[in-house]
Amino acid sequence: MIRACDDADFEVIYRIINDAAEAYKGVIPADCWKEPYMAREELRHEIEEGAEFWGYGQGKELVGIMGIQHVQDVALIRHAYVRTSSRNRGIGGALLLALTQKTTCPILVGTWAAANWAIKFYEKHGFRLVSQSEKDRLLRKYWSIPQRQIETSVVLAAPNWFPYHATGLSRRHDDLAVRK
Ligand SMILES: CC(C)(COP(=O)(O)OP(=O)(O)OC[C@H]1O[C@@H](n2cnc3c(N)ncnc32)[C@H](O)[C@@H]1OP(=O)(O)O)[C@@H](O)C(=O)NCCC(=O)NCCS
Repeated sequence: MIRACDDADFEVIYRIINDAAEAYKGVIPADCWKEPYMAREELRHEIEEGAEFWGYGQGKELVGIMGIQHVQDVALIRHAYVRTSSRNRGIGGALLLALTQKTTCPILVGTWAAANWAIKFYEKHGFRLVSQSEKDRLLRKYWSIPQRQIETSVVLAAPNWFPYHATGLSRRHDDLAVRK
């Protein structure tokens, strides 16, 4: 059910991302929303930069995709998207579990601060929010995203991050000034 994606999956990955990203519309800051949410060139660039996509298939069709990208000494979960019509069936969870088993590196994930459902999803799988100052540092170090996205994002870390870097744990969620 879960398999590595290849060039032939490019178009379906593109469609899943832009279908699932509709969840952000009206939730993330208006100046961060665009249509399509991710252009083909941007997706191509992400793959060239090292994001490896895995897909969850139902029958012949992929219904969810998730990327993993090794950057320096960590692994980033990138672009986690399940088709709107296939949510809440464990597909995202299965992909996340599969990807976390593909690396021994500390794992980080970034998402929009306003995407409460995504934060809950990762927390349910053992990830914890890092503090505001730590997330700024991590987003600058490991991601290549605009300043505005740094301001409006959070970072969650998997349990294997904390022994590696124990100081980053956020004691309370609401110490994140950007979180709505
Ligand atoms: C975040 C996202 C990838 C999660 O994917 P998903 O397939 O819906 O996730 P899961 O089904 O594994 O988990 C979601 C919920 O379904 C529940 N669930 C899991 N398996 C289930 C099953 N077999 N039957 C019913 N519900 C189930 C989970 O318990 C969870 O419930 P919760 O709301 O109480 O936490 C998906 O919601 C998505 O694409 N969202 C829009 C884009 C986004 O926010 N991406 C994250 C960017 S970093």
